[in-house]
This record gives sequence, structure tokens and C-alpha cells, in this order.
Amino acid sequence: MPIAPVRVRGTPEWEALAAHFAELRDVHLRELFADDPLRGEEMTVDAADLVLDYSKNRVTPETVRLLVALAERAGLRERSEAMFSGEHINVTEDRAVLHIALRAPEGTEVVDGGRNVVPEVHKVLEKMADFAEAVRAGRWRGFTGKRIKNIVNIGIGGSDLGPAMAYEALLPFSDRVLTLRFVSNVDGADIYEATADIDAAETLFIVSSKTFTTLETIGNAKSAKEWLVASLGDEGAVRKHFVAVSTEADEVARFGIDPANMFEFWDWVGGRYSYDSAIGLSLMISVGPGPFREMLAGSRAIDEHFRAAPFDRNLPALLGLIGVWYNDFFDAETYAVLPYDHYLSKLPAYLQQLDMESNGKSVTLDGQAVDLATGPVVWGTPGTNGQHAYYQLLHQGTRLVPADFIGFLHPAHRVGDHHDLLMANFLAQTEALAFGKTADEARSEGISEPLVPHRSFPGNRPTNTILAPELNPRVLGELVACYEHKVFTQGVIWGINSFDQWGVELGKSLALQIVPELVSEAEPALHHDSSTNALIRRYRAARRP
Ligand code: F6P
Repeated sequence: MPIAPVRVRGTPEWEALAAHFAELRDVHLRELFADDPLRGEEMTVDAADLVLDYSKNRVTPETVRLLVALAERAGLRERSEAMFSGEHINVTEDRAVLHIALRAPEGTEVVDGGRNVVPEVHKVLEKMADFAEAVRAGRWRGFTGKRIKNIVNIGIGGSDLGPAMAYEALLPFSDRVLTLRFVSNVDGADIYEATADIDAAETLFIVSSKTFTTLETIGNAKSAKEWLVASLGDEGAVRKHFVAVSTEADEVARFGIDPANMFEFWDWVGGRYSYDSAIGLSLMISVGPGPFREMLAGSRAIDEHFRAAPFDRNLPALLGLIGVWYNDFFDAETYAVLPYDHYLSKLPAYLQQLDMESNGKSVTLDGQAVDLATGPVVWGTPGTNGQHAYYQLLHQGTRLVPADFIGFLHPAHRVGDHHDLLMANFLAQTEALAFGKTADEARSEGISEPLVPHRSFPGNRPTNTILAPELNPRVLGELVACYEHKVFTQGVIWGINSFDQWGVELGKSLALQIVPELVSEAEPALHHDSSTNALIRRYRAARRP
């Protein structure tokens, strides 16, 4: 049943923001800080272990008040309650959206279709924990009796990015005896390189796919199976070296994996919201069940915060609303995520799918064209590397690129004075972006007149600073849940379905059509456009059988 979303454009709340924007558009952060000496302390919110300082944004308390009124107008509280209570808010797939149930403690209730799903979640968590412990302790052995040392997760999108990101993020907590690899690309180089230097007898493949029909994953899993059987010389080896994570037991069995070695999840978990489910099995094997549960507890803490905190003190809601402010009033087209922690190097890629697959939509829940710009382009890399690459554009380019800076008070490792240097850069960058350097300041530093325009900085470039004590499993869970609810907040304001992904289908079905056209012996009749036809002919001419 389509839900008619609230169209916020044109509402009094929207018009009030538009009028406010006209007043604030040209106000510099220098002025805002000069006007309120306590701004830096006041414009911060806490949620669990996280602190968000949003003072270096082009907002005033009035902006926040008006954005909160917009959220109320859009029905953010009601929509969030609908999500938490298992309503089928994913209307185009007629599904509940219950990743929050994946971190609900035992004894609590989250209902889908009249059934409490929490006991099932914990049953699977137990099964995962037993398996993870067996692999970690060397009780689960390979076909030849050798201990498992390599874990290869085969999956793509939400069945890859979450565990791959979290594995790196939590490396200091991992069992270093085990090597984890993540294979996603249908390009054979990926599976080839992942298996080139490892012993099949010591390798466990986790085939992770919600649908278990995804071309890339099934292709890679088949090649992995061939490699394993060829190496160990026995089909029977598959049983000890392949497990599956999926919602589709029949497909898993058809592939040849014993359904007893399948870890289940459910259609109410979206792919990009799934790494707290069995999709995180590789991660659990790496860090152990205890830290994995800590991560879930972190996400749970943020779920509770998001559900209860007033919007003007609500960290994910504020992140979302400030993002809407830049997206729809300042017309910012992109936003950067800049972790100042090497272990979070895959966070931007993870957030790309979370945000862009969720909010890259141009119709509203009821199928009408949107009248607002929706999800921005999300990008980023660890901060200090970016400083020596693209920060030039952030500081002096013509575009407005809002950015989230993420940093930690304590490092995972004490290596010399690296952490102090890292954090000095972290703090310096947001200061420089906000306040810049005027021409007069440049002159007073002795910069020669012809160079003054080149060596002054406009400033007024907005950033969020997100700080946490340290990057541990709990904090990672908190961070991820914050971004999940941020994306949800924005989807509600824009009136779109953040939980489907029909936009990926057209390319998939065309690829299936093109495969036989590339490989058939007989010259195929091609009915594409002239460019695609010519490219197919060129490929066929070059292809060696
Ligand atoms: O093609 C996009 C997508 O459907 C993502 O939403 C999903 O995370 C990914 O493919 C993988 O899907 P599956 O887990 O079913 O293999």
C-alpha cells in the first residue's frame, strides 16, 4: 500500500527555512563565532560514547529550531516509530525494516507480522558464536584435518562492504592467526588473487548473499568451489570448507552447501543494513563473539537514543537535518566523510552504499516525482591522505563540500607521537576550513601582493566533528547506527523509500542479455544502440575462445 509522504516543500516550515536561508546565506562562520563566545561548547550533542560538535556549520540555534520543525512536519517521529514497530515501511517490497531487531537484547520484543523476531535473532547469534568459536579454537577443521587459517567472504554490496569495513576497523581486536579476505568483484582477478597464495586445506569460504542469486557472488563461489575441489581432489571437501549466509535455504542447497551450515537472516534486513546479522559471520570469527556482541550493544545504544532524544539533541537526526540544509538550500551536491583513523579507511565506501543506495531516489513513496534534491554523492578517504590530495579543492575550490571529520581521543596503538600529530591535523583542518585566512591576514604575514589572492582562504566551509574515546567494537556499532538513522532521517524529509534499490536492476538485466551476445559462436543479431552494438562487435572480434 503506497504511503502518501508529507511533501515538505511549500509548507510553512519549509518557507520559514527558505526565508532564514536568505538571511544566513552570506553570513560567515567568523561572525557566528564572534557573536557567541560559547558557540563551540553549546553546539555539541552526546550520544552514547559519541560527541558531535556541529558548531562549525553555517547554522544558528534558529536554524536548528526550524530544521526540527521541518522534521516534525515530515513526521520523522511517527515514521521512526513505524520502523521500530515493524510496519512495512519498505512499501515497494512490502517489507518491514528491522535492522534494529538485530541488536535488540534477549527478552525484548520487535514484532514483524505479529511474531516477535528477537528470539530468532538470538538463535542465529548463538549458532554463529558456536561456529566462530569452533573455527577460532581449531575445532572446526578442514577436509584433510588441517586447522582453518584463511577465511574468504564471498559477497557483494551489503554482503561485503559491512564486514570488510568492520574487519579493518577492528583489526586490533582480531585473532591474527586468521587471515580474512573479501571477494566481491566478478572480475576473476579478485578471486584469483584471494586464493593465489593460500592453502585450500586451510581455507573456509563464507558465501554471503541475501538472495543467493547475485551473479557476481554465485560466479565467484562457483570458481572458489572448483579451485577447492581441484586442490583437494574430492567433492566431499565442500562440506568442510563452505558455509553460507542467506535468507534462501533452497538456493543454498542447490549450490551444494549443506543447509545445516547456513546462517539465516530475514527479508526484513536490507542488504546495506545487514552487517549486524549473520552477514557479519566473518567479522565474528575474526574478533570473537564477545566483541561482536559489544558492537551490537553500541548500535542498540544509538537506536535508543535516536528513538527517544528530542531532535535538537538527537545526534543522528541532527546529522541528517544539517545534511538536508546543505543539500536543499545551499545546493551542495556532495559530502565528504573523512575519518582520522587508518582503521576506518573503508568507512567511506561502506557509507557510499548505505547512503547512496538508500537515498539516491527521484520518486516519493507514492511514486510521484520528488520536488527536492535527494541523496548527495558521498565520498572520502582517511583524512591525512586526503589532505595531500583533494583538500585543496575543499579549501579554495568553488564548490561547497560539507564534511564529517571523525576522530578518536586514544589511538589503538602508541607509535611515537603519531596520534598527537594526527589529531593536530584533524583539529587544524576544520579550523582552517571554517575560518580561512583573509587577504589582510595574508598581507600581515608578509605575503607579496601578487600572491595574496592565491594565499588567502575564504573559509566558511562547514564541517561536523565527531569524536569518540577510541575505536572499539562498541564505538564502531554506535557510529554505524548513527549513519543508518541519519540516512533514514533524510529519507523521511524527502518522502522517499530509503529501503529499496530498484535502480540497480536495469543494468543487471542488460548484462544478462549481453553475456550470450559476447560468447555465442554464431554472430548474434544485436538490437542495442549503435554504440553498444559496435562495442560488442569489437569485443567479440578480440575475444579468444
Ligand atoms: O545490486 C544491489 C544489491 O541488491 C544490494 O542492495 C545488495 O547489498 C547486493 O546487491 C548484494 O545482494 P545479495 O546479498 O542478495 O547477494
